[in-house]
Amino acid sequence: MNEEPEYGPKANAFKTLVSKIYLHRLPSYGNKIFYGLGFLALTSLVLLIISGSVLAFMGQDWWLHDPVGIYARSVHLWSVQAFIAILILHILVGFFTSGYRPPRRMVWVFGAAIFALVVFQTEFGYGLRGDFSSQFRAVSGADFWNGARLGYWINPLSHLQEFALHVAIIPLSILGLFVLHYILIHAYGISKPLKKETPYRMVDANHRIMWTRGAFLAAAILVLAFFFHSPYVPVSTIADSAKADASLVSSTLTDEYARTSDTATYLDSIDPYAFDTRTVYVVAPYEALSGATEATTSDAMIAALMPAVENGTYEAYLDRADPAPYTYSLRFLSDMGVLEERAGTLGFATDQWGMAKDENGHYLNALPPGSWWMTPLGVLNSSFNLLNNDNGDEIAAYTFAIILLLFIVFPYVPILNRLPELFPFGGWIQRDKSLSEGGGDASDHVTPPPL
Ligand code: HEM
Repeated sequence: MNEEPEYGPKANAFKTLVSKIYLHRLPSYGNKIFYGLGFLALTSLVLLIISGSVLAFMGQDWWLHDPVGIYARSVHLWSVQAFIAILILHILVGFFTSGYRPPRRMVWVFGAAIFALVVFQTEFGYGLRGDFSSQFRAVSGADFWNGARLGYWINPLSHLQEFALHVAIIPLSILGLFVLHYILIHAYGISKPLKKETPYRMVDANHRIMWTRGAFLAAAILVLAFFFHSPYVPVSTIADSAKADASLVSSTLTDEYARTSDTATYLDSIDPYAFDTRTVYVVAPYEALSGATEATTSDAMIAALMPAVENGTYEAYLDRADPAPYTYSLRFLSDMGVLEERAGTLGFATDQWGMAKDENGHYLNALPPGSWWMTPLGVLNSSFNLLNNDNGDEIAAYTFAIILLLFIVFPYVPILNRLPELFPFGGWIQRDKSLSEGGGDASDHVTPPPL
């Protein structure tokens, strides 16, 4: 028998779509806020996509300096804060109610894969902002990926690659995973209580309250962004460093020429800086900017370059000559030690739990707060002293990868997947005060898989 309703010529396409997408019947606890968190995550995601598209369309100068651009950037950052906080609550509800039990295991897997992507997505976002935080995160991020032997594939020093990852590849993957996540939820409905004796009844979904909560969240994000802006700390430039300490620049150029700088002698799991520092930082700019050829001493070339370093043409030349902008200029700033020193002064160097903080060294004590969701990495680094370990980046990367993988396949891991049964929270979340023990429809109850 075909149960598809008849859609006459007057059927409204929008209403038809919405009605097809909605869940219509839910267990009564499904209208509580606990089960509204998925929709709120979606609301933040929609705001993220809208504000992110505006930013990408208008460009970096606009989002850094124009008042409307600063507001759009702040909406984007507040949406991230909301998205991650709501996702964590959503995960906790799924966990404590054992909402990932068969047949919903892949619902969890798709959701958890989204969460893993979101964590990386935020780092690439900070890298694109175009302030000092982006510079420092690009250099330390590249160190991290190189240490993890993935530097060939993932290079935060390459602005172009970060842009492609943050604006297209990761968001599209997140959207694709969300569609899979939701198709399964739509097919299976909201999970029923784990314990057969927990009473529940099926009711109509309250879509009005769902949209009202979404509207409150969107309004809160828009208002917070108006009053509390995304931070901005101006970039470090080679020209500014030369004005502050010309001898630091010329001694670094001497090291680049002698191939003794950090970049020239970079030793990690792989060496991505395969370019010749003598040619890139001294000989080629000297020839290009002075019109002369190399037939002179290194000291003479460096002395001739210094005025161009101070007026900014040297750095502009490096960026133009760079096949992966801004690797050359950022590596030079890093070789001078100015990035690490400034990050230390601002309080967000890696050994100060830098990844969990904002660009002024704030953690949770500022609005908007720093990237607090990176706290586990800070704990990992400081608990095992990984920063002073030669293989620290590699150990951190693999530990992090194992934790993420376990988190994603969690519903399939015996013993671990029964952990929530030790806690009473699932029962509280799903309690329906209007019902007494033993009532309800037990048709969808699932016996936990054997240990
Ligand atoms: C883009 C991010 C996400 C969106 C928009 C989203 C959306 C939703 C929606 C709308 C629902 C149905 C109602 C509800 O429980 O809220 C849901 C259910 C669920 N989600 Fe997500 N979700 C996301 C990420 C995640 C993550 C990261 C996890 C876990 C790691 C997860 C696990 C689950 C589970 C287990 C259910 C089923 C709950 C049940 O039936 O009891 N979701 N999600």
